[in-house]
Amino acid sequence: MKNTDIKDILCNPKEYLSKTVTVCGWARTIRDSKTMSFMAINDGTSLKHLQIVIDKTKFDENFMNSFSVGCSVEVEGVLVEGAVQKDSVEVNASKITLLGDCPADYPLQKKYHTLEYLRSIPHLRVRTNTFNAMLRVRSKISFAIHEFFQKNNFVYVNTPIFTGSDCEGAGEIFRVTSLSFDKIKSFKTEEEYLKADFFGRRAGLTVSGQLEGEVAAMAMGKIYTFGPTFRAENSNTPRHAAEFWQIEPEVAFAKLMDIIEIAENMIKYIIGYVLDNCKEELAFFDANFEKGLVEKLTKVVNSDFQILDYTDAIELLKKADVQFKYPVEWGLDLQTEHERYITEQVFNKPVFVINYPKKIKSFYMKQNDDGKTVAATDLLVPGVGEIIGCSEREADFDKLLTAMKERNMNLADYKGYMELRKFGSVPHSGFGLGLERIMMYVTGIPNIRDVQLYARTAKDLME
Ligand code: 4AD
Ligand code: MG
Repeated sequence: MKNTDIKDILCNPKEYLSKTVTVCGWARTIRDSKTMSFMAINDGTSLKHLQIVIDKTKFDENFMNSFSVGCSVEVEGVLVEGAVQKDSVEVNASKITLLGDCPADYPLQKKYHTLEYLRSIPHLRVRTNTFNAMLRVRSKISFAIHEFFQKNNFVYVNTPIFTGSDCEGAGEIFRVTSLSFDKIKSFKTEEEYLKADFFGRRAGLTVSGQLEGEVAAMAMGKIYTFGPTFRAENSNTPRHAAEFWQIEPEVAFAKLMDIIEIAENMIKYIIGYVLDNCKEELAFFDANFEKGLVEKLTKVVNSDFQILDYTDAIELLKKADVQFKYPVEWGLDLQTEHERYITEQVFNKPVFVINYPKKIKSFYMKQNDDGKTVAATDLLVPGVGEIIGCSEREADFDKLLTAMKERNMNLADYKGYMELRKFGSVPHSGFGLGLERIMMYVTGIPNIRDVQLYARTAKDLME
C-alpha cells in the first residue's frame, strides 16, 4: 500500500499541504455532527493522531455507519490546514476504504484504562498512547545503545541462550528439557534422565551472557551483547521480570574505574539521544507518569554521577533517620529500600556504589587487596534502584579457582572460562544494563510489566 507515514506528514506538513495523500491507521476517536464526521487515526509512527474530515453527504449512509473506534482504514484526500486548531493539519477525505471493521465489544472504548486492566489485553494495549509511546522509546533506546558502542569500536556479539552454567550463581536458572513429563517419569535416576535429554546434560536458559562475553573480549578487546536473559526469580516486585533484556559490554585492558566511566558515558548517551529524538513521548510521560521527568533527565546528562564506597554507604544508612525494614550491617546486601534512600534522599542522582563485600557478590569479581571486598559496583538511580551490575573480573587463575571452590561450584562446567586466565590473561571489566530498568527510569512507568510488549513474571505468562 502506498501510504505515507503519519509522522512524516505531521513533522513536515508544508511538504504535503494542498496535495493528495494516502494514509492508513486505526480510528482512535470518532466525532459526528449532522453532515460531518471527524476521525482521528493513528498508525503507530507518532504520538499525535491525524484528523480525517469526512463530508458525510458525499458517502453512502450505511457505509458511514460502518466506522467505529478501533476500525482500520485507508484514506485518500487533500491535506489542508486545520479548520479549528491553529498550526494543525487534517485530511479532507475523498476516498475511504474500511480495511477492518471493529464491533462494539472492542475493549478500548474509553479514553483512560488502568495499566492493570491493560495487562489483561496485551494484544490490544499496544494501541494506547502509553504503550505506543513506550515501544517507540524502547526502540530508540536500543538504537542509541548500538550507536554508542559501535561509535566506540565495540563489536556486537551474540552469546548463547542455552547454557550449562550459572553465571550469577544464584540458582535462578530455568531448566530446559525436550522430554515429556511421562518420559521423564520413566527414568529411575536424574543421571539417566539427563543422559537421555536433548543435550545429554543439565541445561538451562542463560541468566547473563557475561561468561561467553568474556571469551569474545579476550580476542576482540571490546564487545557488547544485547539480548534476552532469563531468571526464575520468584520475587513479585515491580522491578523483576523472568525474561528481560540485558546489554553486557566486556572490555579487555580495563579496570573498575575505566568501566565505570564507560557506563556513565553510555547512560548519558542513551538519555541524551532520547531527549533529542523522543520529545513528544517524553512530554507525554512527564505529564502522565512522572512530573518533572524531562528536567530530571536533562540534569542527569549534565552532571557527574556519584561514586560511593559500600562501607560509606553502610555508615550513611546507619545514620539515617529512617526505620528500614531490612537490617543495615557491614556484610549484608543493600535492599531496594536502602538503595533508594541513598540515591533519592541523599544524592538525588545516579550513584555508583563500589567495593562490595565479596561474600555477597559473584565468584568472578576481582578480589581487592583488603581480602574482604571485590572491585564491583551497582549503579543506583532514583525511582528504580539498581539498573547496572558491574565489576572488574578476577584475572588471576588461582584466586578465581579459590572463589569457585568456596562456592562449591562444579569446575568442569567452567573449564573454558577458567582457561582464559591461563592463556594470556589481562585485566578486564564489564557490566550488565537491564533494558527494562532503564526504560522505567527514562519513562517514569512504575512497573516492569508495562515496559515490555509481553511481560513474563512468576505465575503469569501474559497472553
Ligand atoms: O546485577 P546482575 O545480576 O549482573 C549480571 O548479570 C552480570 N553478569 C552483568 C555483567 O557484569 N555482565 O544483572 C545486571 C542487570 C541488573 O542491574 C538489572 O538492571 C538487570 O540486569 N536485572 C533485571 N532486570 C529485570 N528483571 C530481573 N529479574 C533482573 N535481574 C537483573
Ligand atoms: Mg545486580
